[in-house]
Formats: sequence, C-alpha cells, structure tokens
Amino acid sequence: MADKCDLCLLGLILLSSLLTGTSGEDVFISSDESVSLSCNKALPDCRSTTWSYDSFRDSRVDLITGGMKNKDTERHERLSLESDCSLNITTVTGEDSGAYVCRQSVNGELQGPVAYVVLHVLHVSVSSSSSSSSSSSSQTEISPGRSLTLSCQLYTIVSCDDWFSSEGLELLWVNQTGVDLKTDSRYQISSSSSSSDRCIITLTTTLLNEDDNREWRCEVTLGDQVQTSVRYTVKYSDPGETEVSVNAGLLYRVIVTIVEMAVFAAPTVILLQIICARRAGRKDSQHPEEIEMPTILQ
Ligand SMILES: *[C@@H]1O[C@H](CO)[C@@H](O)[C@H](O)[C@H]1NC(C)=O
Ligand SMILES: *[C@@H]1O[C@H](CO)[C@@H](O)[C@H](O)[C@H]1NC(C)=O
Repeated sequence: MADKCDLCLLGLILLSSLLTGTSGEDVFISSDESVSLSCNKALPDCRSTTWSYDSFRDSRVDLITGGMKNKDTERHERLSLESDCSLNITTVTGEDSGAYVCRQSVNGELQGPVAYVVLHVLHVSVSSSSSSSSSSSSQTEISPGRSLTLSCQLYTIVSCDDWFSSEGLELLWVNQTGVDLKTDSRYQISSSSSSSDRCIITLTTTLLNEDDNREWRCEVTLGDQVQTSVRYTVKYSDPGETEVSVNAGLLYRVIVTIVEMAVFAAPTVILLQIICARRAGRKDSQHPEEIEMPTILQ
C-alpha cells in the first residue's frame, strides 16, 4: 500500500513538474558509485541553493541550505555541492534512494525552475552455501562446487510492480556477452513470484571450475534501455592456494634437482678436494709420490 502511495506522490511531483515548468529526472546508479544530481542553476553562485531529500518513509530533510551542508544529517560526509550547484553523493547506498529537490531562492522567492531528481540504486549482495557469510562486495571468496546466490535489488521509492506494468521496468541477470541467463538451464533465476517484489532478482548456480574470473551482470532496464548495471566477478580462493602449491612444487623440483646434482656431481668435487688435501698433506709428509687421483677421476 505504501508503495502505491509513493507512486501517487511521485506522480504528483512529476505532474506538478509538468505544470510548473520544473524539471524531473530519474537517475539510476549502482551502489558504491558516486553520482551527481543536477540542479537548474539560475544564479551566478550556489549561495541560494537548497537541496532537500525525501525517502517517503521519514519526513523530508534539507541536505544543503543556503549553499551549505547541514552537518546533522548522517550522510553529510558523502555529500558535496559542485560549482554548478549539482549535488554529489559518493559511495551511494540503497538508503540514498529517494527524491531530491533543488531550489534556489532569494528572499523567499524562487529563482529559476525547481529540479526534481528521483534516485534509484542498484545493489548486489552475495551468499555462498558453504560459508553462510554474506558479502556485498563485487568479489567474494568462493570455490567450485559451492552454490552461489546473487541477489540484485533495485532500491527505489517507486513500486517496481507498477513500474514494470506501466513502463516495462525489468531486472535481468546477463553474462559477459549480454545474454539473458534466464535462457540458460545452469542458472535458477527468480524474480520473486510475479505479484510480489519485482525489485529483486536472484541468480543461483553451482560453481564450476571454469567459473573463475567469470562475470555476471545485473541490469535494470526501462523500455529496453539499460539504466545501470552491477558486475559480479567470481574469484576463487583456491587458485591462490593452488598457485602457492604450484610454486612450492617448482621449488621442490629445483631443490630435488640441486640435491640430485649434489649427490651425483658433488662427490667428485669433494673427493677431489679431499685427495688434493691429502696429496698436499702427504707432499709435506714422507709419501709425496702416492697418487690416488687417477683412480678417482676415471
Ligand atoms: C563527486 O565527488 C568526488 C570527490 O570530490 C569525485 O571524485 C567524483 O568524481 C564526483 N562524482 C561525480 C559524479 O561528479
Ligand atoms: C553467454 O551465454 C550464452 C548463452 O548461454 C553463451 O552462448 C555465451 O557463450 C555466454 N558468453 C560468455 C562470455 O559466457
């Protein structure tokens, strides 16, 4: 129900945008990236710029007032105001999704059009069967034979169901060549049962040896246009160990070879040294003519 209301509100925002000559924009971004939301700069500087944020869950917050950051918002460290009054958000998270409004006013009077930006954030989280740990990094330590589940979620204030039916919003898992993996029997792709949340699509597969360095991509498309995507690359933890043991193997081979050489080649050297020493010693003693060299060298 809340979703429906959000959509109505958004509809109102966009409708009012149309009526009042303001601008509205949907921005899609992958989590952890930075994004710049544009304001319609109408004045020479940004001292009269206000950026506010509405998640439609809590009350609206002013992020920037009079061109200055409001330090009491928890995300203030990730925000900055650019010279064209755009709002820059770094390391975006799902929590940043929502509606952003930029206004410029002097003495309470609006200058130029109000800019509405609706931010949608795509995020992939990973879980692997053998290690119950869940990680949200683009790479996780996993190994062949394990079952891997990648959940791709679009954080948005809009209802994905409504959006899906009205504008053909879609989430897809594709491989490196852009082929929809729904067609590949190796993968179980579930965009949780039809009527529930279309904002999440999961990919489940059992990892194969050859999957090392394989990349899967979650894409969000709107009317067949890819809006943004998140890549996930398989990195096996085992190859690291394998590499180490391969190196150890090589080292072992080298050591064996050296030992072999020592066994077969060194005695001659050692014996020669002993013999020479003896000869030298005997030269000084009473049997300088005794020569053992030839028998050994033969
Ligand atoms: C946002 O600001 C950061 C840090 O100043 C910068 O590295 C990044 O390029 C900016 N992002 C955009 C989208 O402008
Ligand atoms: C992508 O999937 C298609 C169909 O399953 C397959 O033919 C193609 O080789 C795959 N590409 C990569 C890079 O894995």
